[in-house]
Amino acid sequence: MTAIGLMGLGVMGANLARNMADHGVRLALYDPAAGVADRLAADLGDKGTACATPAALVAALPAPRTIFLLVPAGAPTDAAIESLRPHLAAGDVVIDGGNAFYRDTARRQARCAEAGVHFLGFGVSGGAEGARHGPAIMAGGDGDALARLAPVFTAIAAKAPDGTPCFARVGNGAAGHFVKTVHNGIEYAHMQLIAEAWHLLRRLLDVPHEEIRDLFARWTRGALSSFLMECAVRALDTLDKDGTPLIEHIVDTAEQKGTGQWTANAALEYGVAAPTLAEAVHARCLSALREMRQTAVASLGSPTMDFSGDRRALIAALERALLSANIAVLAQGFALIRAADAEHGWGVSPATVARIWRGGCIIRSTLLEPIAEAYTATPDIENLLLDRTLWRRVAAGDAEWRQVVVTAVAHGVPVPAFSSALSYVDGLRTGRLWADMIAAQRDIFGQHGFARFDAPGRHHADWAPLDLSSPAAGS
Ligand code: 6PG
Repeated sequence: MTAIGLMGLGVMGANLARNMADHGVRLALYDPAAGVADRLAADLGDKGTACATPAALVAALPAPRTIFLLVPAGAPTDAAIESLRPHLAAGDVVIDGGNAFYRDTARRQARCAEAGVHFLGFGVSGGAEGARHGPAIMAGGDGDALARLAPVFTAIAAKAPDGTPCFARVGNGAAGHFVKTVHNGIEYAHMQLIAEAWHLLRRLLDVPHEEIRDLFARWTRGALSSFLMECAVRALDTLDKDGTPLIEHIVDTAEQKGTGQWTANAALEYGVAAPTLAEAVHARCLSALREMRQTAVASLGSPTMDFSGDRRALIAALERALLSANIAVLAQGFALIRAADAEHGWGVSPATVARIWRGGCIIRSTLLEPIAEAYTATPDIENLLLDRTLWRRVAAGDAEWRQVVVTAVAHGVPVPAFSSALSYVDGLRTGRLWADMIAAQRDIFGQHGFARFDAPGRHHADWAPLDLSSPAAGS
């Protein structure tokens, strides 16, 4: 029987322990909080052994040992590794299953490698329920060490609709944690799109709560089927104690723990256009400025939200716009994964990533199937929007998407995700952009040079002096 050590027995750790025990894994358990490991061990019966110290945890396992960490990212993860290190031997494996920053994972891999210990970074998605009944697991690190553990993690992972386990080695090094970070960036953007659709329906169109609930339920049964849409239906189905919809009592600020910001930072760092992934983070930041927004409303006033257009048409348009924008968001996320992979040489297969995102994880949706097919057919396709099947789906909602953005803008309703995703798509298929003017300005003030259509290499110009007194020659 496989034996694994689990360190960090919060909700995620404890649920993973139960999931593993259900699959016949024997667990050595450690948590720094008194009594936690004992209680879980008692729950797990002959599958669980409580250990009082990190040294005892290591000692309870047969060599080569496997220890799974589920501790908060950052300093607590470093502290956990350091508490184990003196007791580990060459060939042992330590897995970090937290939402770690991928560069920290690379650093920890190098540190553990000094002692011949394999450090693997697992992106685990699906929240507490997923941990208990089947998460999606994006594994990164040494192939041999991972191959040894694959049967256990394949068994505990979620299954995609076609029954395929949602566990895979997505690449070397820190690939697992990077892919999980981008997963969360996509999660932020998809959540933001649903929130914007809700906001337009509720506050611009004044659609009654029950109708929005039914609409979302219908969308969830159709092409927009996704776990996050299901969450939105549940959010609207939940009533407060007084019988009114709970959502009407929830303060309009969204918190964040940092993975969305890491995704946006990575997009900037690798020079990848991922505007909607970044906008979703900015949108949360804007939402958090609640007091300031109230002050601004009092002193600047709010845009009027008087809608006198065709409500039915806009509601129908929203459904199509949401599908198109969701695909554009996924295109941005996959472009970012490909760019980081090119830099680090992790060997990530986008088709594998899409396949394991079909089940268990927060961004699971029916869209991942055609994406997996697109990358299987053309593994090096530069952007998902170049896939004919996906593009047809985006293009089918083109007019409706514009209608949603135009209407929102005309009425002063902020739709940062819908509008940035549309600009992304439009920018991608504009042969000649505005950047000629940027290149000219850079050369004027900084002699940075520019490229010409008609001659290779870098060029500078002898720019005209400023003369505002007369019309330009020829005008
Ligand atoms: C998952 C989730 C999980 C967590 C988010 C929330 O895949 O299971 O993404 O990791 O719920 O990190 O992130 P924020 O608190 O930043 O919204």
